[in-house]
Amino acid sequence: MSDDLQDVIQEVLRRVRPSVEERNHMNNVLSEVVSRLQEEFKSIEPEADVLIEGSVAKDTWLSGETDADVFVRFPVKWKKDEMGRTLIDCVKRVFGPEKCRLRFAEHPYVTVRIEGINVDIVPCYRVNRGEYRSATDRTVFHTEFVRERLSPEMRDEARLLKKFFKGIGVYGAEIKTRGFSGFLVELLVYSLGGFKETLEKLASFKPPLLLDPGELYKGREEELYRKARDSLICVIDPVDELRNVAAAVSGESLSIAQYASYLMLRKPSVKFFYPAHKASKEEIREIVRSRGLNMFAITIPAWTDIPDILWGQAYRLLSRISIFLEENEFRVLMDKVWSDEEKNVVLLFILEEVEKRAAVLHMGPPYFSNNVPVFIETYLNNEKTLVQPFPRNGRWWTILKPKAKNVDEVVSKAFSSKEFLKGFSENILKAFSESKMYYGEDVVEAVDNTGYLSFLEKCIHPFSWILRED
Ligand code: CTP
Ligand code: MG
Repeated sequence: MSDDLQDVIQEVLRRVRPSVEERNHMNNVLSEVVSRLQEEFKSIEPEADVLIEGSVAKDTWLSGETDADVFVRFPVKWKKDEMGRTLIDCVKRVFGPEKCRLRFAEHPYVTVRIEGINVDIVPCYRVNRGEYRSATDRTVFHTEFVRERLSPEMRDEARLLKKFFKGIGVYGAEIKTRGFSGFLVELLVYSLGGFKETLEKLASFKPPLLLDPGELYKGREEELYRKARDSLICVIDPVDELRNVAAAVSGESLSIAQYASYLMLRKPSVKFFYPAHKASKEEIREIVRSRGLNMFAITIPAWTDIPDILWGQAYRLLSRISIFLEENEFRVLMDKVWSDEEKNVVLLFILEEVEKRAAVLHMGPPYFSNNVPVFIETYLNNEKTLVQPFPRNGRWWTILKPKAKNVDEVVSKAFSSKEFLKGFSENILKAFSESKMYYGEDVVEAVDNTGYLSFLEKCIHPFSWILRED
């Protein structure tokens, strides 16, 4: 594999630029979607217009990409919920309900699958720049900005950065990833001058990384610094000075991007763009077993088909279980979620231990503290006390029965505790009742899916697929 940055870039470019046939296919599918929707809208709302948006309109889409965006722009007299409902009904009527999948970002939209392409059909309002009424109203202005400002060369640079971020797992602003959106990628290459320049910046910056691609704060730089003070990365939306396009980027994603950029510049490789996770079930089983890792997985059937909701709730559930485990004296070393967004959610934990010994040491106050009598009296005749309070090395201690004998007990306790379950909806509770648990090397059996195996491999070796020599 080539080591020279320019060679790697040329090789990747060759693979990410859509071919003429691909472009034709995409254009044909989208033209058909647009004209069928336009026809239908003539009778519903003649003032609505149907637009091709997103990376196809901006010519920053990747070869092999099967997603595209079409927007239906409504006059502002429409109420938000009516607009969403009308669009969904109309799309179902035109393309048939079996081809449609209802989805949800900040408001509902539909995905239609036509000839291998998933077209997101999204409602928005026709407004003047700056007078946005819904989250999607800015998109047409974003498209305009990119089409005006990004040269064909810069669009290719955006493709490279997009593919790089996809490869290292930080592409996409949705809750699942909390990474870099397509528009953010475009603004980064535009502001910083290209793919390599963006890597150099990412590899070396200390937060906040502050950019104002539309120069909206020209002459008001002080105000901009104040605004960005508390963010890790702040990229001012060129069509809305109050919005940070990078607001969704988590510290975790940004830090991965920083390290991967550093690695890529030091030792360029196509592997960053096309990672090969290839450990088999048996290999992962062997790693977990030989390292004695206390892994623990809970498989729960997916309780909704709306990905943003599923991921949001799965992350909340993960953190609630982690806290519950800690409260029950099981130290959590790592916690992560995986889902195929259709059938299963897996919550994965690495714990210090999964079984408790017979007794735990419980720390009390230092000698001469006012709290000593309360501590002693609390544990003198407590049902949990195995050894009554005693002084040792400057503090008081007691030895207690563990709160739970093993993780199984803690999770059962959680899933039957009113306090724990508070706030979870009926459908999640029902899914809990069908959950299954796997321990140690058996976590590889939690679901039968190669994506899950890659996830497990990445949990144990977040960068091995880049560092590994072939
Ligand atoms: N958008 C949206 N809701 C969707 C899909 C898209 O609001 N369901 C908006 C986004 O806010 C963005 C634009 O449409 O402004 C395009 O979104 P997306 O497809 O995520 O980004 P692209 O630039 O098209 O990049 P990609 O190549 O990843 O599709
Ligand atoms: Mg898109």
